[in-house]
Amino acid sequence: MAFNQIYQNKKVLITGHTGFKGSWLSVWLLQLGAEVYGISNDVPSQPSMFEVLELESKIHYQCIDVTNFNALNAAIQNIQPDFIFHLAAQAIVSTSYTNPILTIQSNTLGTAHVLECVRLLDKKVAVVIITSDKVYDNVEQLAGYVESDLIGGKDIYSASKGAAELIFKGYWHSFFKDKHQVRIAVARAGNVIGGGDWSTDRIVADCMRKWSMNQTVTLRNPNATRPWQHVLEPLSGYLLLGQLLYEELLHVNGQAYNLGPYQQAGITVLDVVNKLSSYFTGANTMVNVQEDASLKEAKLLQLNCDKAVIELNWRATFGFDEMTKLIADWYKNFYNNDGSVNMYDFTNDQIVTYHNHAFENNLSWTK
Ligand SMILES: NC(=O)c1ccc[n+]([C@@H]2O[C@H](COP(=O)([O-])OP(=O)(O)OC[C@H]3O[C@@H](n4cnc5c(N)ncnc54)[C@H](O)[C@@H]3O)[C@@H](O)[C@H]2O)c1
Repeated sequence: MAFNQIYQNKKVLITGHTGFKGSWLSVWLLQLGAEVYGISNDVPSQPSMFEVLELESKIHYQCIDVTNFNALNAAIQNIQPDFIFHLAAQAIVSTSYTNPILTIQSNTLGTAHVLECVRLLDKKVAVVIITSDKVYDNVEQLAGYVESDLIGGKDIYSASKGAAELIFKGYWHSFFKDKHQVRIAVARAGNVIGGGDWSTDRIVADCMRKWSMNQTVTLRNPNATRPWQHVLEPLSGYLLLGQLLYEELLHVNGQAYNLGPYQQAGITVLDVVNKLSSYFTGANTMVNVQEDASLKEAKLLQLNCDKAVIELNWRATFGFDEMTKLIADWYKNFYNNDGSVNMYDFTNDQIVTYHNHAFENNLSWTK
């Protein structure tokens, strides 16, 4: 029971369904009674949450690159979705340095293709486009960025996501504003962490890979602060946005929303890693700090989420301890699994835990 039961028996398309967030979103939507369709070009990591949870047997999916417009359009015309969550992206910042054109093609052109497919779709559809907190021109200000702040990332990943937003704006004003069948919004989430992420150059994934082999993890940017949040926090925001769009709440249509953590300013990489280490290994000793001044990543990035709180009645609910404990538990159950734990059921249970926590905190989407 959540999101006003809007997803029950609906066709929901997730682009990027084999990824970290896409896999969690697939599980949640299945729990909500949706018929889930996925489009991705590949399985992005080894292991992957998609394969660990055996999602290939639970959803309909196709292997399509979002840069291939004809294939994407044919698939979307065939599915006739009621909802689209567009997550497919080259999502790794370090890869955007080694492969900038691929990043721009997947993230910018890919989003343009999804928007064009939506334009050609002749039915009611609610669409949520997932960009990033990194779309903002990060001037390392202390105050959190608000949705009207300047877009303009200084690295290619951020630029590719910012450019996707400019294209969204163009499509919105040119086509969707007056096309009432299409309802669409953008979600900008901060650094998302959770069980089941094995992407390269992501801090939690790096830690779990090392610790599972009893090795120490090395931190190069230990004092960077990020708007850390458990993956279920922004996903609740995406699902709520989808619900409100489908229910035709017009003030949401065409808008962008920051989705960030609750009362968690100033948490550093080192804070997160130490806490995860204490839950995962029972000690704080599995961390080695080796600062690298050449790293180009910004040190300070905070989001102001007042717009989502006021207009959507959304907010994140987990505190730092709850978030890190749930993550460490997920990986502990995966790595120490003697075959008795079904990771799909375990993931479902973590979603129920999150839902119950949000319910106790009176979040309206839980009804
Ligand atoms: N994880 C985070 O911390 C974070 C933070 C902000 C925004 N985001 C955004 O959320 C979305 C999902 O992120 P994630 O962490 O799950 O990433 P991920 O790398 O785990 O998954 C990316 C997904 O996109 C698919 N994909 C990549 N390029 C594609 C292409 N050209 N055509 C079709 N599919 C393609 C992959 O196969 C995979 O399914 C992305 O848009 C990402 O930019 C993630």
